[in-house]
Amino acid sequence: MEQLDNKMSSSLGSYKLQRYPVRKKETLRAWDSADEYLLQYLDENKLLQAEVSLLIINDSFGGLSLPLSKFQPVVITDSYLSTQAIRLNAQSNGIDEDLITVIDSLVTPESTLNVRSRIGNHVVLIKVPKSLAMLEDQLHRIRPLLDESTVIVAAAMTKHIHMSTLELFEKIIGPTKSSRAQKKSRLIFSQFDADLSVADNPYPKSYALPYKLDDIDIEVKNHAAVFSQEKLDLGSRFFIENLPVSDQYKTIVDLGCGNGALGLMAAIKNPLAKIIFTDESYMAVESSISNFLSVFDDTREAEFLQTDCLQGVEENSVSLVLCNPPFHQNNAINDNVAWQMFFEAREALESKGELWVVGNRHLAYHAKLKHLFGSCEVMASNKKFTILKAVK
Ligand SMILES: C[S@@+](CC[C@H](N)C(=O)[O-])C[C@H]1O[C@@H](n2cnc3c(N)ncnc32)[C@H](O)[C@@H]1O
Repeated sequence: MEQLDNKMSSSLGSYKLQRYPVRKKETLRAWDSADEYLLQYLDENKLLQAEVSLLIINDSFGGLSLPLSKFQPVVITDSYLSTQAIRLNAQSNGIDEDLITVIDSLVTPESTLNVRSRIGNHVVLIKVPKSLAMLEDQLHRIRPLLDESTVIVAAAMTKHIHMSTLELFEKIIGPTKSSRAQKKSRLIFSQFDADLSVADNPYPKSYALPYKLDDIDIEVKNHAAVFSQEKLDLGSRFFIENLPVSDQYKTIVDLGCGNGALGLMAAIKNPLAKIIFTDESYMAVESSISNFLSVFDDTREAEFLQTDCLQGVEENSVSLVLCNPPFHQNNAINDNVAWQMFFEAREALESKGELWVVGNRHLAYHAKLKHLFGSCEVMASNKKFTILKAVK
């Protein structure tokens, strides 16, 4: 296999960038041509002066914040993996990590007046996220930080910029246009309009799970980045209909929890178990916390981890892992994360502990589980989904 070149060269310097977690046979670069286009634009137009204050939204692995580190950017991200990548890539390129301030996606302007005062009339860079909901939420959150002198430039691969993307900028920020394409990427320029009448931020959104507790609907709250935030995913629904129940389950993990619906329902069906919720998305973990508390308040033991898969969960300590694996990450479709989740589940499970996985039939998780656990059993299936069980 050809060795991946991890050196990013830009007019603002050359950097070695790796994705996080670091994988031996990585096939994907840690930056894209939209990062390069944006850096080139900033440099050619001399938009960055020594005293500039700079906000960067959704930098994936440091492709923007490292070359711009001397301007002491504030980076907003929802991703644990991005936070780690930016820190580790800064270290390995000899950049003082303290130059880059990383904050999470739910920090509101009111609670970050220090950030606000630094943004002033300056530069906001946005890597357009794949989810329109996330973009909408982020534009609402930054609007109070902007004024007419703020330079706002967004970037993305052309295939991720649609009319609906530009319309969101028009609706929430002001007049917007996009650049010509360069190496399959484009820039978006948006001008803040103070007089624009902007609707309220519709996030977080809520819906009722199709189950009742003591005859009352179970409402779940979903921040914008959460998987399937408009309604319960069909795979998750099928999983909930087939969740295992046993007094033997002392600790249950909802791995990649999203809004936490699986862990919440597992808690209801297994009243003796402690539940651990993990997700790499900050908004997912925050949604799970509020959904769990709204049902159980503090009457039930639970742990919530923003982490990479099962980092932070003790080995040989878990009775049951529930998992509806992601099949894309940072815009790339691959099965690395599913592999990593299954592998780490095996480590975290106690002897005879069980991993239950739901997936689209075509995803062939069966072969992976058999490879890792020696065998695996189909517990339920319908036209679209299969639920598999592997025992340690
Ligand atoms: C298909 S969604 C399932 C969400 C939820 N369990 C459900 O069934 O509705 C997969 C989840 O895995 C999370 N995820 C992706 N990569 C992860 C990682 N490396 N570590 C932890 N969670 C991750 C995503 O943020 C997403 O919430």
